[in-house]
Amino acid sequence: MLKIAIIGVGTVGSSVANILKKNKEIITARAGVELVPTIGVVNDLTKKRNVSIDLTDDINKVLEDDSIDIIVELMGGIEKPYEIVKKALAKKKAVVTANKALLAYHRYELEEFAQDIPFEYEAAVAGGIPIINALREGLTANNITSIQGIMNGTCNYMLTKMINEGVKYDDILKEAQDLGYAEADPTFDVGGFDAAHKLLILGSIAYGIDAKPEDILIEGIQNITSYDIEFAKEFNYSIKLLGIAKRDKNNIELRVHPAFVPKEAMIAKVDGVMNGISVIGDKVGETMYYGPGAGGDATASAVIANLVDIARRGKGSPMLGFEEDYGEKLSLLSKDE
Ligand code: NAP
Ligand code: HSE
Repeated sequence: MLKIAIIGVGTVGSSVANILKKNKEIITARAGVELVPTIGVVNDLTKKRNVSIDLTDDINKVLEDDSIDIIVELMGGIEKPYEIVKKALAKKKAVVTANKALLAYHRYELEEFAQDIPFEYEAAVAGGIPIINALREGLTANNITSIQGIMNGTCNYMLTKMINEGVKYDDILKEAQDLGYAEADPTFDVGGFDAAHKLLILGSIAYGIDAKPEDILIEGIQNITSYDIEFAKEFNYSIKLLGIAKRDKNNIELRVHPAFVPKEAMIAKVDGVMNGISVIGDKVGETMYYGPGAGGDATASAVIANLVDIARRGKGSPMLGFEEDYGEKLSLLSKDE
């Protein structure tokens, strides 16, 4: 059994705890060991939550608890989680985080600090899409020519509704917040900063650069006017907030801004909370990644993928559980079923 503490039991944290319980059998089989959400840390113990996990507001007690194996940081912010992650790693606890703001500023330092203690963050970019795994593993033979696409679910949800249904900016921002897509401070979404954090993480993995948000062009969607929307409709364009990283010889260009995109382009068809990212490698050519970019369950799916991976590395026999415990319960459908 691996005991997991979830620091922050909000939209994503409660989904992680719920999925670990609901899909316990298949997750245990795939991890080779049971992953037990043991304790959650929150600000406000009186808040009503749709999750059943013991709660505390004492982070230090959790970090000092030697029986906790993995810390899952899902509280948001930068300075406080930075301290928590460092303390957890110093106590030799594995860490999983979905915190792109933290990573955009401190990824290299924390990875160096972690040394051989697992420190993973698949959910930090593009919610449920395994884009970090694709860059680190699947495309590792390639020089990456470009990474570009839609990296913020809130903005894409808002723009889709504003263009397709004429919904007003403020109303649709509120809806994205209610659905759990937006950051605690939604300025990070609509100002383009969240997409920039993600672009910087992908850019740092692909190119080894150590740029900060202050170093790149970031323009959000707040200044899109009704005139822009009418123009887009009249000339058969969509408007998308794009994150773009391009390599040209020895230069890397990184930028985030809204763009008019022809309706027939593949990226224009990525609507709602979905993210769509194109990665071009010099050997593989263009690859596309599409899926839900925000939301509790989609993001938790990526967090749990990291947890299973950590458990497998610890056990050294990855698929054993899957074959023995789960595989035999499945039967093939006959051709007529
Ligand atoms: P959220 O719903 O606002 O939840 C944050 C949780 O952290 C809450 O349970 C809150 O406690 C707790 N918390 C905040 N500050 C705390 C403190 N100082 N001490 C103890 N607990 C504290 O946020 P979220 O949407 O789940 O996002 C969490 C993280 O995942 C963020 O880094 C976000 O960027 C990232 N992320 C989110 C999504 C998404 O779709 N939502 C997707 C990918 C990544 P209370 O409940 O008591 O207030
Ligand atoms: N607020 C973020 C978004 C959450 O809307 O994309 C997922 O990272």
